[in-house]
Amino acid sequence: MMIDRLVMATNNKNKLREVREILSPLGIEVISQQEAGADVQPVENGTTFAENAIIKAQAVYNAVKAPVIADDSGLCVDALDGRPSVYSARYAPEGQECAKLLDEMKDISERSAYFECCIAFVDGINTEFMTGRCYGSISREAKGTNGFGYDPVFERDGKTLAEMTSNEKNRISHRAEALKKLYEYLEKKKGE
Ligand code: IMP
Repeated sequence: MMIDRLVMATNNKNKLREVREILSPLGIEVISQQEAGADVQPVENGTTFAENAIIKAQAVYNAVKAPVIADDSGLCVDALDGRPSVYSARYAPEGQECAKLLDEMKDISERSAYFECCIAFVDGINTEFMTGRCYGSISREAKGTNGFGYDPVFERDGKTLAEMTSNEKNRISHRAEALKKLYEYLEKKKGE
């Protein structure tokens, strides 16, 4: 099936811009669920990133009956049995997540962690998942002012994601990896 338009199950302007930029070489227009007229707010009660992504994608697909993508992401800390995982956004009030995580881990020496991003694609015939991961570790203190969420406490190659420029982060991020897989999937689909 030729795809020239994708609905993204989000109204987050930053996510939309990022996905638009990445998919523009394929000639695919990306519009928000709002622009597509899908007034849905599904309950994200999945226990994995893939479950939450498909909950969002399916809800918007049911409303628009056109190809849809949705993403879900978060931080998984090995020493915390993978938490906060799908609860990353609800772990602490916005702006307090880093302080809370550092406090929870103050006596823990095993610091390895990863970010995961799962993108679900639904077009009524196919359902596909594209997953990206960024491996690193939780620092002892918050550093840097770029980025968002847990970036100031997530270290990779000697610096936190909040100390990197957005270009540097985009080369290694979980979201960039999942988007690259989405690009390749859509590119292949175009040629079919
Ligand atoms: P969502 O995918 O927009 O629901 O994001 C889930 C939560 O995971 C965010 O609110 C952040 O706390 C966290 N998160 C996801 N990706 C990143 C990232 O690249 N840096 C820092 N925090 C992130």
